[in-house]
Amino acid sequence: MPEQVLALSARGLRKSYGALEVTKDMSFDVPEHTALGIIGPNGAGKTTLFNLITGTVKPGAGRVALFGQDITKVDAKRRCHMGIARSFQVPQPFAGLTAFENGLIAAAFGQGISEAAARDVAGEALDRTGLGPKANTLAGSLTLLDRKRLELARALATKPRLLLLDEIAGGLTEAECHDLVALIRDIRAAGTTIIWIEHVLHALLSVVDEVMVIDFGEMIAKGAPDEIMRDPRVAAVYLGPDEAELEVVHG
Ligand SMILES: Nc1ncnc2c1ncn2[C@@H]1O[C@H](COP(=O)(O)OP(=O)(O)OP(=O)(O)O)[C@@H](O)[C@H]1O
Ligand SMILES: [Mg+2]
Repeated sequence: MPEQVLALSARGLRKSYGALEVTKDMSFDVPEHTALGIIGPNGAGKTTLFNLITGTVKPGAGRVALFGQDITKVDAKRRCHMGIARSFQVPQPFAGLTAFENGLIAAAFGQGISEAAARDVAGEALDRTGLGPKANTLAGSLTLLDRKRLELARALATKPRLLLLDEIAGGLTEAECHDLVALIRDIRAAGTTIIWIEHVLHALLSVVDEVMVIDFGEMIAKGAPDEIMRDPRVAAVYLGPDEAELEVVHG
């Protein structure tokens, strides 16, 4: 069997803010060309984990490797050049610039390429996300779905090998959510490894190969989606221990 390549490998990651331990000894692997879902209650430490992976927050301890290369000491900009991109929980476009200009900046800075090359990459990223016809619309005037598409386009413009999505499906109608999921599936099918934090479970479960559950900064379960959704520890986190017991008994 060919050796499995790991897009991401985290070992013993820890992060505290003062006395608050937000990430407690997290270790996990994400094989390339797979999609990992992350779920967990508000404040569990999910976004912090993304910050540790992208390098905007330094871990108190532990290591991160990208495609077998230790990047623990690599800064965020270089990690982006190496192929890590993310979407933000609260979309952060330059509202006064057009969709195209937003893509252009992402391509130019995210890859460190010339403006001419970045124009091509930005155009391609907008087309892939269905934003081509709105290339000249100001980002601040886009609908919520289009702002989410722009988050994806900006990430794609950096040509990621590993794409981190932070609650990108929230606030959409069912039909819009369906469109967004189709887009994420396409990105994954084109070979990009995905880690997706999401509260909209049906969207998440229709894409990912595995689900990891985080509670109080710890990974409490990781496995196939159907296994995880049947796990009483997961039900306890979401429903409270008493209700979880009833669900499991009467389920
Ligand atoms: N820069 C910071 N300084 C102090 N505390 C922080 C900082 N960033 C995060 N925290 C705290 O760390 C904990 C985890 O936050 P994080 O944003 O990672 O949670 P989350 O799982 O993404 O939550 P949500 O589902 O609400 O997005 C929270 O208690 C939060 O208040
Ligand atoms: Mg978060």
